[in-house]
Amino acid sequence: MYFKKHVFVCENVRAEGERPSCGPKGSPQLLAYMKKRLQELGFKDKIRIQRSGCLDRCELGPVQVSYPEGLWFSLKTKEDAEEFIQNYILKNETTPIRRLMLEDEA
Ligand code: FES
Repeated sequence: MYFKKHVFVCENVRAEGERPSCGPKGSPQLLAYMKKRLQELGFKDKIRIQRSGCLDRCELGPVQVSYPEGLWFSLKTKEDAEEFIQNYILKNETTPIRRLMLEDEA
């Protein structure tokens, strides 16, 4: 596997009145925050966090999915994103951030 973790952050934007979308719920700001924090922490090559289009779990957004595990998250605030980085990215632990995770089936 080329990346240790590869995180996709939905930034899709839909018009008002359509199905909800992650972009207007602040996902671009969350992505920018996470990228900045990874740089500050010295991660460059092994962890990739990038924008994506719709991941089809729009009503639960903002939505993120991370591989290789295929774990789904709904990080809504910078505090959520920081917990995600401190636990999942740095320690590979998900137990402390269960509240931020989505079930496989929803
Ligand atoms: S708009 Fe983000 S999952 Fe569909």
